[in-house]
Amino acid sequence: MVSVADAIVLSRLGHQFRAPGGVLLPVLAGIDLTVAPGEFLAVVGPSGCGKSTLLRLIAGLLTPTSGSVQIAGRTPEAARRAKAIGFVFQDPSLLPWRTVRANIILPHEVNRQIGPPLSEHALTDLLELVGLRQFADYLPHQLSGGMQQRVAIARALSFQPTVLLMDEPFGALDAITRESLREELQRIWLVRRPTVVFVTHSIPEAVALADRVVVLSGRPARVQAIEPVLLPRPRDAMSETTPEFVAAAARLKTLLRLAA
Ligand SMILES: Nc1ncnc2c1ncn2[C@@H]1O[C@H](COP(=O)(O)OP(=O)(O)O)[C@@H](O)[C@H]1O
Ligand SMILES: [Mg+2]
Repeated sequence: MVSVADAIVLSRLGHQFRAPGGVLLPVLAGIDLTVAPGEFLAVVGPSGCGKSTLLRLIAGLLTPTSGSVQIAGRTPEAARRAKAIGFVFQDPSLLPWRTVRANIILPHEVNRQIGPPLSEHALTDLLELVGLRQFADYLPHQLSGGMQQRVAIARALSFQPTVLLMDEPFGALDAITRESLREELQRIWLVRRPTVVFVTHSIPEAVALADRVVVLSGRPARVQAIEPVLLPRPRDAMSETTPEFVAAAARLKTLLRLAA
């Protein structure tokens, strides 16, 4: 049953691209999926199966060739216009000549429809939330990769989206930075409670963060399995050593191997 109370509803969602030479490449097929408000959903699947395509369809950056996407009962385009969707990519995509502060307020500057400019108070709150209070006036090149990604998260959260889409946001970072950002993202999510769809190729990352993990099959991607993760929160680096965590990760690893 489709309900406007659901944050994201994908119905028989499919997409095919026209590859060079004109052949049609089916990338996603018959995806049915409902994400609850405030849920943290992780998506894993073989490389090239269509995970980024799925996020772009949810964001309304791409129009599906079959099926539909609804964001709280609206089309993705309408949700995007209403600034209900924030997006974080693997690359932080910061403007190098703008300070941390200026990068975070950028969406408010370029798109007046978002509403009034971000107040100094809201900006301080955001900087505090991502742990960059002392770095407001730094330029991107004066920050570590992990700090740059935290700026990208703050920018995505700056208009208080209800849906946060993250495409391998920690994929380019070293293992230790990834682990600490994992904990930080969970803390931020627990405070702001956006609905998150988080694409990753890391099973431990999916288990550490998600309420449920969707396993996609190889291209064209279908939903192969949906695994709930019932571990208590907050989960930290030490949680990963518990037998429950290890068992959940092992189960997902098996599912992912089957999917590929
Ligand atoms: N704009 C496009 N035109 C044609 N093919 C594309 C386009 N974008 C992605 N693809 C193809 O779709 C498939 C899935 O891509 P993608 O969603 O990026 O996979 P993933 O994120 O799971 O690695 C790939 O085979 C890729 O080549
Ligand atoms: Mg991708």
